[in-house]
Amino acid sequence: MTPEVRIAGLETPRLILRPLELADADQAQKLFPHWEIVKFLAHVIPWPYPEDGVRTYYRDQALPAMARGDEWHWSLRLKSDPDRLIGGITLRRGERKNRGFWLGLPWHRQGLMSEAVEAVTEYWFQDLGFGVLRAPKAVANLASRRISEKQGMRVIAVEMQNYVCGPLETETWEITAEEWRARRSGRVPAARA
Ligand SMILES: CC(C)(COP(=O)(O)OP(=O)(O)OC[C@H]1O[C@@H](n2cnc3c(N)ncnc32)[C@H](O)[C@@H]1OP(=O)(O)O)[C@@H](O)C(=O)NCCC(=O)NCCS
Repeated sequence: MTPEVRIAGLETPRLILRPLELADADQAQKLFPHWEIVKFLAHVIPWPYPEDGVRTYYRDQALPAMARGDEWHWSLRLKSDPDRLIGGITLRRGERKNRGFWLGLPWHRQGLMSEAVEAVTEYWFQDLGFGVLRAPKAVANLASRRISEKQGMRVIAVEMQNYVCGPLETETWEITAEEWRARRSGRVPAARA
Protein backbone atom coordinates (compact mmCIF):
# COMPACT_ATOMS: atom_id res chain seq x y z
CA MET A 1 0.00 0.00 0.00
CA THR A 2 1.21 3.52 -0.77
CA PRO A 3 1.86 5.46 2.45
CA GLU A 4 -0.28 8.55 2.99
CA VAL A 5 1.65 11.73 2.38
CA ARG A 6 0.71 15.26 3.38
CA ILE A 7 2.68 18.15 1.93
CA ALA A 8 1.49 21.50 0.67
CA GLY A 9 0.55 22.18 -2.92
CA LEU A 10 2.26 25.30 -4.27
CA GLU A 11 1.71 27.65 -7.17
CA THR A 12 3.55 30.20 -9.27
CA PRO A 13 2.18 32.65 -11.86
CA ARG A 14 1.95 29.89 -14.50
CA LEU A 15 2.36 26.61 -12.58
CA ILE A 16 0.67 24.31 -10.11
CA LEU A 17 3.06 22.22 -7.98
CA ARG A 18 1.02 19.23 -6.84
CA PRO A 19 2.33 16.78 -4.20
CA LEU A 20 3.54 13.68 -6.01
CA GLU A 21 1.22 10.65 -6.26
CA LEU A 22 1.77 7.15 -7.59
CA ALA A 23 -0.90 7.93 -10.20
CA ASP A 24 1.55 10.44 -11.76
CA ALA A 25 3.93 7.68 -12.79
CA ASP A 26 2.43 6.87 -16.19
CA GLN A 27 2.58 10.46 -17.43
CA ALA A 28 6.10 10.97 -16.06
CA GLN A 29 7.30 7.74 -17.66
CA LYS A 30 6.41 9.14 -21.10
CA LEU A 31 8.34 12.39 -20.56
CA PHE A 32 11.33 11.58 -18.38
CA PRO A 33 13.46 8.96 -20.20
CA HIS A 34 15.12 11.19 -22.80
CA TRP A 35 18.87 11.64 -23.07
CA GLU A 36 18.63 15.45 -22.94
CA ILE A 37 16.82 15.15 -19.60
CA VAL A 38 18.85 12.41 -17.91
CA LYS A 39 22.39 13.04 -19.16
CA PHE A 40 23.28 15.50 -16.35
CA LEU A 41 21.40 13.61 -13.61
CA ALA A 42 23.14 11.42 -11.01
CA HIS A 43 24.47 8.09 -12.26
CA VAL A 44 22.15 6.16 -9.90
CA ILE A 45 19.46 6.64 -12.55
CA PRO A 46 19.52 3.53 -14.76
CA TRP A 47 20.14 3.97 -18.47
CA PRO A 48 18.64 2.59 -20.68
CA TYR A 49 15.67 3.50 -18.52
CA PRO A 50 13.33 0.64 -17.53
CA GLU A 51 9.71 0.69 -18.68
CA ASP A 52 8.49 0.76 -15.07
CA GLY A 53 11.36 2.98 -13.83
CA VAL A 54 9.24 5.93 -12.70
CA ARG A 55 6.58 3.81 -10.98
CA THR A 56 9.25 1.79 -9.14
CA TYR A 57 11.08 4.95 -8.07
CA TYR A 58 7.92 6.69 -6.86
CA ARG A 59 6.58 3.61 -5.05
CA ASP A 60 9.80 2.38 -3.43
CA GLN A 61 11.77 5.58 -2.85
CA ALA A 62 10.08 8.94 -3.41
CA LEU A 63 6.70 8.34 -1.72
CA PRO A 64 8.14 6.50 1.33
CA ALA A 65 10.70 9.33 1.76
CA MET A 66 7.85 11.88 1.60
CA ALA A 67 5.93 9.89 4.22
CA ARG A 68 9.01 9.88 6.50
CA GLY A 69 9.39 13.65 6.10
CA ASP A 70 12.80 13.32 4.44
CA GLU A 71 11.83 14.44 0.93
CA TRP A 72 9.22 16.68 -0.69
CA HIS A 73 8.26 15.89 -4.31
CA TRP A 74 5.86 17.79 -6.54
CA SER A 75 4.65 17.21 -10.07
CA LEU A 76 4.55 20.34 -12.23
CA ARG A 77 1.49 21.32 -14.25
CA LEU A 78 0.53 24.38 -16.22
CA LYS A 79 -2.44 26.23 -14.73
CA SER A 80 -3.81 26.31 -18.27
CA ASP A 81 -3.70 22.47 -18.49
CA PRO A 82 -3.74 21.12 -14.91
CA ASP A 83 -4.38 17.47 -15.78
CA ARG A 84 -1.13 17.19 -17.72
CA LEU A 85 2.09 16.55 -15.82
CA ILE A 86 5.04 18.41 -17.39
CA GLY A 87 7.90 17.77 -14.94
CA GLY A 88 8.94 17.31 -11.36
CA ILE A 89 10.76 19.10 -8.56
CA THR A 90 12.12 17.74 -5.28
CA LEU A 91 13.51 18.95 -1.96
CA ARG A 92 15.40 16.60 0.34
CA ARG A 93 17.09 16.73 3.73
CA GLY A 94 20.87 16.30 3.77
CA GLU A 95 24.20 18.08 3.63
CA ARG A 96 24.72 18.53 -0.09
CA LYS A 97 21.80 17.67 -2.36
CA ASN A 98 18.71 19.50 -1.22
CA ARG A 99 16.97 20.25 -4.52
CA GLY A 100 16.49 18.57 -7.91
CA PHE A 101 14.25 19.15 -10.94
CA TRP A 102 13.43 18.08 -14.47
CA LEU A 103 11.05 19.32 -17.14
CA GLY A 104 9.61 17.59 -20.21
CA LEU A 105 11.32 18.67 -23.42
CA PRO A 106 8.35 20.53 -25.00
CA TRP A 107 8.33 22.99 -22.08
CA HIS A 108 12.03 23.86 -21.92
CA ARG A 109 13.32 27.44 -22.18
CA GLN A 110 10.10 29.20 -21.24
CA GLY A 111 11.23 30.22 -17.77
CA LEU A 112 9.03 27.60 -16.13
CA MET A 113 11.65 25.93 -13.93
CA SER A 114 12.88 29.35 -12.82
CA GLU A 115 9.35 29.90 -11.47
CA ALA A 116 9.08 26.48 -9.82
CA VAL A 117 12.45 26.85 -8.12
CA GLU A 118 11.41 30.14 -6.52
CA ALA A 119 8.31 28.49 -5.03
CA VAL A 120 10.07 25.44 -3.56
CA THR A 121 13.01 27.47 -2.26
CA GLU A 122 10.55 29.71 -0.44
CA TYR A 123 8.94 26.56 0.99
CA TRP A 124 12.36 25.21 2.07
CA PHE A 125 13.24 28.31 4.05
CA GLN A 126 9.86 29.70 5.14
CA ASP A 127 7.74 26.60 5.74
CA LEU A 128 10.30 23.89 6.49
CA GLY A 129 12.65 26.29 8.29
CA PHE A 130 15.99 25.03 6.99
CA GLY A 131 19.03 27.32 7.32
CA VAL A 132 20.83 26.50 4.08
CA LEU A 133 20.05 24.98 0.68
CA ARG A 134 22.76 23.26 -1.36
CA ALA A 135 22.58 21.78 -4.85
CA PRO A 136 25.35 20.13 -6.88
CA LYS A 137 25.26 20.38 -10.67
CA ALA A 138 27.52 19.62 -13.60
CA VAL A 139 29.40 22.70 -14.82
CA ALA A 140 28.23 21.67 -18.31
CA ASN A 141 24.56 21.89 -17.25
CA LEU A 142 24.16 25.51 -18.33
CA ALA A 143 20.41 25.76 -17.70
CA SER A 144 20.64 24.41 -14.16
CA ARG A 145 23.66 26.60 -13.32
CA ARG A 146 21.86 29.67 -14.65
CA ILE A 147 18.92 28.94 -12.35
CA SER A 148 21.29 28.88 -9.36
CA GLU A 149 23.00 32.07 -10.49
CA LYS A 150 19.69 33.86 -10.91
CA GLN A 151 18.67 32.81 -7.40
CA GLY A 152 21.76 34.44 -5.90
CA MET A 153 23.43 31.14 -4.97
CA ARG A 154 27.23 30.77 -4.52
CA VAL A 155 29.62 27.96 -5.48
CA ILE A 156 31.14 26.39 -2.36
CA ALA A 157 32.87 23.31 -3.82
CA VAL A 158 34.14 21.94 -7.13
CA GLU A 159 34.77 18.23 -7.60
CA MET A 160 34.18 15.36 -10.00
CA GLN A 161 30.88 13.47 -9.76
CA ASN A 162 29.32 10.68 -11.78
CA TYR A 163 26.35 11.36 -14.02
CA VAL A 164 24.29 9.23 -16.39
CA CYS A 165 26.62 10.53 -19.16
CA GLY A 166 29.82 9.83 -17.14
CA PRO A 167 32.12 11.74 -14.75
CA LEU A 168 31.93 15.54 -14.95
CA GLU A 169 33.26 18.54 -13.11
CA THR A 170 30.60 19.52 -10.58
CA GLU A 171 29.89 22.67 -8.62
CA THR A 172 27.94 22.65 -5.38
CA TRP A 173 25.84 25.82 -5.10
CA GLU A 174 24.59 27.21 -1.79
CA ILE A 175 22.28 29.88 -0.44
CA THR A 176 21.54 30.53 3.24
CA ALA A 177 18.17 31.45 4.66
CA GLU A 178 19.56 34.90 5.52
CA GLU A 179 20.75 35.46 1.95
CA TRP A 180 17.41 34.24 0.59
CA ARG A 181 15.42 36.58 2.83
CA ALA A 182 17.70 39.52 2.02
CA ARG A 183 17.22 38.86 -1.68
CA ARG A 184 13.46 38.54 -1.25
CA SER A 185 13.26 41.84 0.59
CA GLY A 186 15.59 43.60 -1.86
CA ARG A 187 18.42 43.97 0.70
CA VAL A 188 22.00 43.00 -0.21
CA PRO A 189 23.41 40.48 2.31
CA ALA A 190 25.96 42.15 4.58
CA ALA A 191 28.68 39.62 3.73
CA ARG A 192 28.47 40.54 0.07
CA ALA A 193 27.63 44.26 0.29
C1 LIG B 1 17.29 22.34 -16.07
C2 LIG B 1 15.89 22.49 -16.64
C3 LIG B 1 14.86 22.00 -15.63
C4 LIG B 1 15.66 23.98 -16.94
O1 LIG B 1 14.27 24.18 -17.18
P1 LIG B 1 13.72 25.40 -18.04
O2 LIG B 1 12.32 25.67 -17.62
O3 LIG B 1 13.99 25.14 -19.48
O4 LIG B 1 14.66 26.59 -17.53
P2 LIG B 1 14.30 28.14 -17.67
O5 LIG B 1 13.53 28.34 -18.95
O6 LIG B 1 13.70 28.59 -16.40
O7 LIG B 1 15.75 28.74 -17.89
C5 LIG B 1 16.63 29.03 -16.84
C6 LIG B 1 17.82 29.80 -17.39
O8 LIG B 1 18.67 28.90 -18.09
C7 LIG B 1 18.81 29.31 -19.43
N1 LIG B 1 18.77 28.09 -20.23
C8 LIG B 1 17.76 27.22 -20.35
N2 LIG B 1 18.11 26.19 -21.13
C9 LIG B 1 19.39 26.43 -21.51
C10 LIG B 1 20.32 25.73 -22.31
N3 LIG B 1 20.00 24.55 -22.87
N4 LIG B 1 21.55 26.28 -22.49
C11 LIG B 1 21.87 27.45 -21.92
N5 LIG B 1 21.04 28.15 -21.11
C12 LIG B 1 19.81 27.65 -20.92
C13 LIG B 1 17.61 30.19 -19.72
O9 LIG B 1 17.89 31.09 -20.77
C14 LIG B 1 17.42 30.86 -18.39
O10 LIG B 1 18.33 31.94 -18.19
P3 LIG B 1 17.84 33.48 -18.40
O11 LIG B 1 16.65 33.65 -17.48
O12 LIG B 1 19.04 34.25 -18.02
O13 LIG B 1 17.45 33.60 -19.86
C15 LIG B 1 15.72 21.69 -17.96
O14 LIG B 1 16.72 22.10 -18.85
C16 LIG B 1 15.84 20.18 -17.72
O15 LIG B 1 14.85 19.51 -17.45
N6 LIG B 1 17.07 19.66 -17.85
C17 LIG B 1 17.28 18.22 -17.63
C18 LIG B 1 17.25 17.85 -16.14
C19 LIG B 1 18.33 18.57 -15.35
O16 LIG B 1 19.43 18.79 -15.83
N7 LIG B 1 17.98 18.94 -14.10
C20 LIG B 1 18.89 19.63 -13.21
C21 LIG B 1 19.90 18.72 -12.62
S1 LIG B 1 21.05 19.62 -11.61
